[in-house]
Amino acid sequence: MSALNDKEKTPYVVSSKSYAAVAINCAAKAGEWIKSKQGTVQQLNTKTSAQDLVTEVDKGAEQMIRRLILTHFPDHAILGEEGVEPGPEASAKALETALEEDYVWIIDPVDGTTNYVHGFPFYSVSIALAYQGEIILGVIYDPSRDELFIAEKGKGAYVHGNPTRVSGEAVLSDSLVATGFPIDAASNLPQNMEALQAIVPKVRNVRAGGSAALHLAYVAAGRLSAYWEIGLNAWDVAAGVLLIEESGGRVTDTNGSPYSLKVRNIAATNGAIHEELLQVLADSAG
Ligand code: IPD
Ligand code: CA
Ligand code: CA
Repeated sequence: MSALNDKEKTPYVVSSKSYAAVAINCAAKAGEWIKSKQGTVQQLNTKTSAQDLVTEVDKGAEQMIRRLILTHFPDHAILGEEGVEPGPEASAKALETALEEDYVWIIDPVDGTTNYVHGFPFYSVSIALAYQGEIILGVIYDPSRDELFIAEKGKGAYVHGNPTRVSGEAVLSDSLVATGFPIDAASNLPQNMEALQAIVPKVRNVRAGGSAALHLAYVAAGRLSAYWEIGLNAWDVAAGVLLIEESGGRVTDTNGSPYSLKVRNIAATNGAIHEELLQVLADSAG
């Protein structure tokens, strides 16, 4: 075999670029494209329920991000929402398969598709990178405000280059708290309504903005004191979890167990009000 033939067989990989630089590039590029397409959606389809929307923009953005990641890191695994069949079982299986690789990129190309379709400017691109199951990088980009949130494990979290810090409320009664209404309404809605009924009188107020990723970024940036939601997937939260941890906050399952990529019921706070929030959620469960 000649040396030339050996060379031809070696796949070409562009010279190394940091994970963070690639994630920022992906989020910014996809975000700009998504924004440019706002109001032009042609294919509005549903997935698990009439509320669970997907458009050609979700799919196109994920494709764009996948291609860019694979250009730099062809041997990394990618777990993207649009590459997984709907429903919790398929999601768990896809996560398990992806985690067979050391490096897994976890992508939600449009978090907040309902808002996007309605022209409500609160949606985001969420990209995380996990190494051996641990999130080491998270980027959330809000194209409507041109805000890019980034966290790297052990290096802090930033928006526009400024460090983010969780808010200082010490009690729930001083807190602004967000939640979301699960897409699997049939099984999750009663639990959610009980929790909501218990929380509302105990906090300053509640918001439900419609993008899990942005809610988490807002907890990291101290704009919300806490956020909880049940029935989420890894792509909704992975990037946001790291943002909060690197901003001094705390994320667990709603029952208080530590966060892992498999956790679907999320409680994310500034840390100070975490136990109080968990207690109200626990007491509300009938
Ligand atoms: C949804 C959003 C929403 C949350 C849902 C998510 P999608 O993601 O994050 O805020 O309440 O549970 O599924 O479908 O717009 O990517
Ligand atoms: Ca999502
Ligand atoms: Ca999505």
